[in-house]
Amino acid sequence: MEKEIIVAPSLLSARKGELAEEVISAKEAGAKWLHYDIIDGHFAPNLTFGPSFVEALADKGLYNDVHLMITDPLKYAKKFIQAGADNLTFHFEAVDDVIETEETIRKMSSTIQVGLSIKPRTPLENILPFVNYFDLILIMSVEPGFSGQEYIPSSTEKIAALAAYIKKNNYKTKIEVDGGLNGETIKPVLEAGADIIVTGNFFFKAEDRKKAVRILKGEEL
Ligand code: DX5
Ligand code: ZN
Repeated sequence: MEKEIIVAPSLLSARKGELAEEVISAKEAGAKWLHYDIIDGHFAPNLTFGPSFVEALADKGLYNDVHLMITDPLKYAKKFIQAGADNLTFHFEAVDDVIETEETIRKMSSTIQVGLSIKPRTPLENILPFVNYFDLILIMSVEPGFSGQEYIPSSTEKIAALAAYIKKNNYKTKIEVDGGLNGETIKPVLEAGADIIVTGNFFFKAEDRKKAVRILKGEEL
């Protein structure tokens, strides 16, 4: 059975004055997740959304996928969960103890899903021991901070290696990819084994957003 690819539009590229409309548009276009890129200006060079944005948009019928590009994820985890986050992904590079952080977040809610993300220059090997603890691994295919960047081609072998590792060990962990995905870069990413596709500019700047979702799902290459 063909696996269902999930498309997760990133608020970073949405029109900030019409966020609610943009979220409805994403849902109507066939997106199932909404990706909130939370950046604190320390972990990465941008300053974006806080928990109040999740609260304002969490009830629009999309799965609320919160990507914490922040230096102290545990400081705000509870606030994002209370705001309506369905998944919280933190960065390997931002914490001293990955498992302690994951366990602490899980204790905050009986339903929260937890993801671990790595930046482009972080070797995949650094996180292999932790994969099975997480609902998803988020492979950053651009440097954290801004949408509209070029896809980093070395990300493809990282995705393939992670997919092979998950398959070999029969883990349930999903692979999410974030950054520079469009009609040109999506094919090798899907072939490598990605399950969830974060999209900023390609989706929100598209003439036809339904078509953009089909392209990112591999249904129209
Ligand atoms: C970088 C952001 C971007 C964004 C996706 O910190 O995480 O990757 O979500 O934007 P595009 O699809 O325009 O690269
Ligand atoms: Zn992201």
